Amino acid sequence: MPCTVVTGAFWGDEGKGKTISYLALKDQLDVCVRTGSVNAAHTVWYQGNRYALHMVPAAFVNEKCRLLIGAGANVHVAKLLEEVEVTNVKNRIGIDNQASIIEEKHSIQDKTSAHLKGIGTTGWGVGPAIEERVRRTAKLAKDVPELQPYLTDVAKEVNNAIDAGKNVLLEGTQGLMLSLFHGTYPYVTGRDTSASAICSEAGVGPTKVDNVLTVFKAFVTRVGAGPIPRELTKEEAIKRRWFEIAAGTGRERRSAPFNFELAKKTVTINGATQAAVTKLDILYPQCKGAKTYNELPEGAKQFINEIEKQIGIPVVLIGTGPEALDVIDRRK
Ligand code: IMP
Ligand code: MG
Repeated sequence: MPCTVVTGAFWGDEGKGKTISYLALKDQLDVCVRTGSVNAAHTVWYQGNRYALHMVPAAFVNEKCRLLIGAGANVHVAKLLEEVEVTNVKNRIGIDNQASIIEEKHSIQDKTSAHLKGIGTTGWGVGPAIEERVRRTAKLAKDVPELQPYLTDVAKEVNNAIDAGKNVLLEGTQGLMLSLFHGTYPYVTGRDTSASAICSEAGVGPTKVDNVLTVFKAFVTRVGAGPIPRELTKEEAIKRRWFEIAAGTGRERRSAPFNFELAKKTVTINGATQAAVTKLDILYPQCKGAKTYNELPEGAKQFINEIEKQIGIPVVLIGTGPEALDVIDRRK
């Protein structure tokens, strides 16, 4: 694996949490760096328990994995400490000295600023926290007493790990279509979400990356405002079992069929080398719990083949259920 970047293909909620938890266990990840902020919830199902993680890296399921939060991230202190407790990772989590802090005032600004009104933000305050950082007035992790036990130099740790040949994963959040630069502006999040941006937030240069794994869901969903091509009605979404409620905010997700044009765009801009497709069992219920490609019904195989043909990279992981290990792994 050595250094892999995981990104979201569409508007987030593709199943990055599940995919990363699988890789953490299967590839015995040594280091996982979370980027972004508290607006993104990564859902992990492990040993019958469900975790919706806003701060702690999804690789926590591997007890040997060092968990880091990069310098580019925005830390919500209360949420982080709560999750550190729930996941029991006190002794192996590190936060970069220069990660910035998202405060209560940012959440209030997020919910009350006129210019953010029609965007449908998550309300956590991530956009305003980034504005504060750009103004050079942000509070940093090193200024927070409760974070002192966890402070570290993430860029140094992660680059040392890569140089030592360890298995490293950079955990992207949200999806390319929410990118401040490449997404559906102005209906986007406050940062770039592409693979390059994930590297930048972690402090890893582009020559150090071996793999970019982009995670697709078998259908498209979106929360908040902004366009979604070929959107289904809620009734139709419920009928197809595509209707979802957001893990982080409890909001209803809108949905649409898999979008091949956007898939190509996401592969190009991320420089993706591999793809994962999650929730294939929602499209093809016979796939539920399958662990080998041969178990898949013909229609499901055709769908995967069509994706590979159109995007030009292999679909190496296929999600067939919510648990971390409900995966068909087609890597050598
Ligand atoms: P913000 O990131 O809270 O500023 O919200 C901006 C837009 O990004 C809104 O449409 C949100 O619904 C969307 N968004 C932000 N984070 C996520 C995520 O993790 N999953 C899905 N949508 C997200
Ligand atoms: Mg999510």
